[in-house]
Amino acid sequence: MNSSLKLDVRRGTRFEFWARRKPATSEEEHAGGEVFALRADERIVYRIAALPPYFQFYAYTHHTNEPLTLEWDENAIELSLFYHFDPANVVEEGVTFLELRGGRLTARPKEAWPAWYQSDPDRPQLRFSPFQAWMNDPNGLCFVNGRYHLLYQFHPVEAEWGPMHWGHAVSDDLYRWTHLPVFLHPEQNLWSLGATGGAFSGSAFVGPDGDLSFYYTERLPAYDLFKDYKEVQKQIVPSTDLLRPEANRLVLVDGPPGSAHDFRDPKVWYDATRGGYRMVLGAAIDGDPAVLLYGSKDGADWKFLSVLYRAPEHFRRHGARCVECPDFFGLEDRFVLVMGFVGYTEPETGRHNLLYAQVGTFEDDRFLPLTPTLQELDFGTDFYAMQSFRAKERQIAFAWLFNWEFRKPAGSPYSGELSLPRVLGLDAQLRLTMLPEEGCRALRSRALTQAAPGHFICEPGKPIELSLGGALNEIRIVGRGGDGESFTIAHVLGRLQVSVAEDAGEIEYRSTPLELKNLTLFFDRGVLEIFANDGVICGTRRTYKITTLTALELVPSKATDIEFCGAWCYLSVWGD
Ligand code: FRU
Repeated sequence: MNSSLKLDVRRGTRFEFWARRKPATSEEEHAGGEVFALRADERIVYRIAALPPYFQFYAYTHHTNEPLTLEWDENAIELSLFYHFDPANVVEEGVTFLELRGGRLTARPKEAWPAWYQSDPDRPQLRFSPFQAWMNDPNGLCFVNGRYHLLYQFHPVEAEWGPMHWGHAVSDDLYRWTHLPVFLHPEQNLWSLGATGGAFSGSAFVGPDGDLSFYYTERLPAYDLFKDYKEVQKQIVPSTDLLRPEANRLVLVDGPPGSAHDFRDPKVWYDATRGGYRMVLGAAIDGDPAVLLYGSKDGADWKFLSVLYRAPEHFRRHGARCVECPDFFGLEDRFVLVMGFVGYTEPETGRHNLLYAQVGTFEDDRFLPLTPTLQELDFGTDFYAMQSFRAKERQIAFAWLFNWEFRKPAGSPYSGELSLPRVLGLDAQLRLTMLPEEGCRALRSRALTQAAPGHFICEPGKPIELSLGGALNEIRIVGRGGDGESFTIAHVLGRLQVSVAEDAGEIEYRSTPLELKNLTLFFDRGVLEIFANDGVICGTRRTYKITTLTALELVPSKATDIEFCGAWCYLSVWGD
């Protein structure tokens, strides 16, 4: 082995990493040789004798007080995610990320995260993103013992979607996150099978006795992304420190007649009026996107009750394959159903994979809508797989800031970001409202200065908020990037529109009609979250072409009468 290093770790420290044989190395070349070893004094305590050509998960826990030496052959091993942690304090201290390169080990403990997050010009500063590799949907959101837990769809070996794990982070305030070890793995090594699938989306459930568990979908090894796969539902009881599953059981295997391979993303609650457990699942019934309702007496043995919602034929006709990530929750004496229609392309605008809500009541295991049509939840569409949870008497939601239209530039160490936390409410017309959670205002650092009225000077790389009130019809807001790129938000022909530098014009990102009365906008290194009319109309876009803003300009029309206008620069939640 060509490199060796002394490590300063305490007894109880656990190492976790994903590794494979360096693609350029042949099996014969490193046959017989060790590629990675840990030595306590002279004793080998952990050794990888040979690596497979596909990624595999490895773990070692140091159970003695002896100092450790790490040895590795850099020509033979490719390490992707690599970290260690002390289970006794990881919730406060987080994991220490490790990188082996050029015979050197770079350790990135929590103190080093701010530099890592701020050095990437593409990295949002107000929002969660994984330290490295790929994330998608938020999962298992919950508030336990005074801490918010975020679990999320995670592919640990590269910044692309692949075999799904659950990443994990905790926060005291919904903004500043501490990275924890990977919580959940696929039930077998899918890389070795050349398959996808694994631990798909799911949610947290607090039972009538206060016990926490997680329900999720396991997609069994899949060889086609669009058909012929099998999805089953599982329940996890976490360890008391919430760091890993203590027990994991299969609870539901087959869908009802008419359903097919799409059968996923459980959300579970306890229905006190019926004294039973209820679960919704995303699926398709005879090809129509649908939400299925299941019931159980004990949380383990589930029976199909009914199709809670079935989409009108229009959606199937325009490509929708199924409902993903259904969310169903009580809010102000009503019930709200939220659904993503994957595959759907809206004929009028070309937007796809839209997220919808409908408000109604839930009686005798039936959802009775109180509004005639679906409400479009985000006209910008980069707000998908929303999941909400109850904490401190509020319904809080996060979503994944992505919709497959545009990608992070190649070479980025990570992909995928989370929205701001949003507080959900209902307006007088029973529309779901979403507003940024108040706590973010504590992160304002100063008011932006104006070069001329309505012309704000931004601080490079810093998140900003603009807040406007009054008669705002026909207003235009232009954000200018450092290299001539811009984005525009405009109220045109009675609708809000948003366009970013990537747009070629084929897709029209526009809202349903509105009289524009107030608008709050957050921009953060390419993430645009727009909240209009007290959160009834929201629009989210992710642009990779403008990461830093130099100026923000308001262009009023004759119809505009601005009564309130404020703009602020924000601190980074990754430490400054
Ligand atoms: C939504 C989704 C879910 C699925 C997960 C897989 O983005 O497709 O339906 O559980 O992502 O990563």
